[in-house]
Amino acid sequence: MITYENQIFHAQTANTSYLIRVQEGGYLENLYYGSKIRQAGSYDALFEKNATGYGNTNVTPSDAKRTLDNLCLEYSFAGTGDYRHAPLLLQMPDFGFSNDFRYDSHDIYDGTYRENTGTEMPYAKGNGEFYREEITTLDITLKDSVYPVFLHLIYTLFTKSDIISRRVKIENRSDEPIVISKVMSLMLDLPDTDYILHTFDGLWVKERHENKKSLVSGLYVNDSTTGSSSNRHNPFIFLSKANCTEEQGECIGVNLIYSGNHYEAIEVSEHGKLRIMSGINPFMFAWTLAAGDSFYTPEAVLSYSSSGQNGLSHNMHSFVSEHIITPARAKKERPVLINNWEATYFDFNESKLISIAKDAKELGIEMLVLDDGWFGSRSDDTSSLGDWTVNEKKLGGSLSKLTGRINKLGLKFGLWFEPEMISEKSRLFEQHPDWAVRSPNRAAYIGRNQFVLDLTRSEVRDYIVTSFSEVLSGASVEYVKWDMNRHLSDAYSIGLGTRQGEFYHRYIKGVYEVMDRITAAFPKILFESCSAGGNRFDLAMLCYMPQIWTSDNTDANERTYIQEGTSFGYPLSTMTSHISAVPNHQTLRSTSLETRFNVACFGVLGYEIDITKLTKAEKTVISAQVAFYKEHRSLFQFGTFSRIESDNNHVIWQVVSEDQKEAVVLFYQRSAVPNPGSDVLKVKGLLPDEVYEVTTRKQFISIKQFGNLVNQVSPVPITEEGVIQSVINKVYMLESEKEEYQAYGDLLMHAGIKLAQQFCGTGYNESLRVMGDYSSRLYVIKSISDHENKSGEGVSNG
Ligand code: GLA
Repeated sequence: MITYENQIFHAQTANTSYLIRVQEGGYLENLYYGSKIRQAGSYDALFEKNATGYGNTNVTPSDAKRTLDNLCLEYSFAGTGDYRHAPLLLQMPDFGFSNDFRYDSHDIYDGTYRENTGTEMPYAKGNGEFYREEITTLDITLKDSVYPVFLHLIYTLFTKSDIISRRVKIENRSDEPIVISKVMSLMLDLPDTDYILHTFDGLWVKERHENKKSLVSGLYVNDSTTGSSSNRHNPFIFLSKANCTEEQGECIGVNLIYSGNHYEAIEVSEHGKLRIMSGINPFMFAWTLAAGDSFYTPEAVLSYSSSGQNGLSHNMHSFVSEHIITPARAKKERPVLINNWEATYFDFNESKLISIAKDAKELGIEMLVLDDGWFGSRSDDTSSLGDWTVNEKKLGGSLSKLTGRINKLGLKFGLWFEPEMISEKSRLFEQHPDWAVRSPNRAAYIGRNQFVLDLTRSEVRDYIVTSFSEVLSGASVEYVKWDMNRHLSDAYSIGLGTRQGEFYHRYIKGVYEVMDRITAAFPKILFESCSAGGNRFDLAMLCYMPQIWTSDNTDANERTYIQEGTSFGYPLSTMTSHISAVPNHQTLRSTSLETRFNVACFGVLGYEIDITKLTKAEKTVISAQVAFYKEHRSLFQFGTFSRIESDNNHVIWQVVSEDQKEAVVLFYQRSAVPNPGSDVLKVKGLLPDEVYEVTTRKQFISIKQFGNLVNQVSPVPITEEGVIQSVINKVYMLESEKEEYQAYGDLLMHAGIKLAQQFCGTGYNESLRVMGDYSSRLYVIKSISDHENKSGEGVSNG
């Protein structure tokens, strides 16, 4: 709900309030953002009190007591005496950078922003098939005090998820062009600064690791300049109060529906105020707005929670699932797939693919994805990007013949593409060398032997759509992995002439246009976004493609950091997670097959391993994993995810069903502790009065783990590393301990389960939990109130 009374806007979501005051002279003061407060006749208590100017700061022309430098403003303008960093740098018709936008009018209406489709940008959708909630939009128009240039501050409330989206439209109604060199989608000034800033940073194979900084005076920037949202700094950030935990305390999160260069700045001013901004990165940005034209920023997303970090994540998760993911894909279960990349890299042929498919089918896997190397003459990463013609020699015939064979085996088929790229060694490059992004007359910087295609040009976009569509319409392809493997450099388009400052933004708009056209033409295909792993993990990609390849790093230990970091802003259904071989190809670390699964199942599961080379024992393990995942698939993909604990040695995650009657909990241990104490497993989000049964997922433990203690677990004498052990290893694995409890939800949440004792070096028996380094268990929690315990009698624990 949004009201406007006595010059005050009061926007309320389910649990939050946002208040803006239109001050005399049309200045917009932010009065409050936080836990919901009631609608009241007067909010004088929240007004900034101006009794005199401050020392040598400047005051407004109409009020000598008012210093904008110390006001919580809704948006700030260069040249007006507010010396904090400005969200807008605009060269006005007189070429000056000063401007002064003041309140002119406003509009409040139901639903999302009316001009959404005209923005040519992805945006949060309104109500889908599954979700109904109150959505309201406020459009405040500001007008420059001199020129007919207008600025719209647009707010959309997604009430149930406690999300307020923000963005800006600039309308040039003057007769002269104006130049935008910075325009933030969101600016939020807060009256306090005791926050910790959380950012999600990394590089290739180490994306979105959480980093925390306690704020002191000055400016903090989180941004990307790679042309994509990047693996370096994700556009999702949040601020938490110092005492905030996963379950309690206040935090504010910000994200941007944008895949290009983004920019988030946090400024602690000397007056003790905090400014948050988010928008397109001003780096190499200069946009000429012709007379009569408008510019729309990307939509930014803001959320406040007083229920800790998990509370904030839950707001973000429900918003993404309900308003970012296309409704046709919302709640639609995703298949368990096998991808041939790490199994074969470029070295595959038809018979190899068919053998993988046959074994995959036996293990319960549902789809085969053919990764890089199926087109042109590509047998390594030096050629053929852009030549989207099937390599029939390698595939043993046409793509439709191959997909026919795969389908006949009972598997769906998926295909990898990298549409935005061109190899120097390709027919396309021979024909159109100027389609590659590079600066004229300069030696080009190259990434993975390839160039980026100039998607600012319509003929390039048309080529991608046509060549891509031809492949997709010729065969039964039900999934596409849309990759993008290099950062942009040498930003330049011959189509842009003197307006090269528009390159990056026009490039990403070009990507959106192509994605829009292709996904609309193939609505039945499940698209997965990828960019050298998770280099473009952002809300805009999710508007087109419901899932993203989280990282090229499939090492289970590393994945706990990556998936946990990602989970702060994005739900499990968006993260794809694969089980690969050991030693892991990115870290050379070995983790057990069960641990690789236990971490990967928190997301959309797949395998990326040469299953034709697995032992019988490994195949038994994998079929059990796939069956378990399928049984709990909707929980893993659409349940409510919470981080329960994450310290130096343990990671505990949980996913709970919407009705709170079912949950799965991961207990992960990074390294074995000698002579350990007991581990207590406390969970969240259950119904206190419900009776639950807790069981351990049956896991298999390799007897190799026991080294020369193998005879403690083997019924027959074995020599370590001897022939018998190696034969036994291939066919036999030890079953993990069994734990089973019945308990009320309150016990499980407040007291917790003391788990079975860990192996501690004094012999083995079946009641011990054999863990070790990089080890884990899954606990399944299921309500039995309606079944076994109908009598209402007490439950026995143990
Ligand atoms: C990227 C992807 C990988 C794989 C390769 C193929 O690195 O992230 O999963 O598809 O490209 O070249």
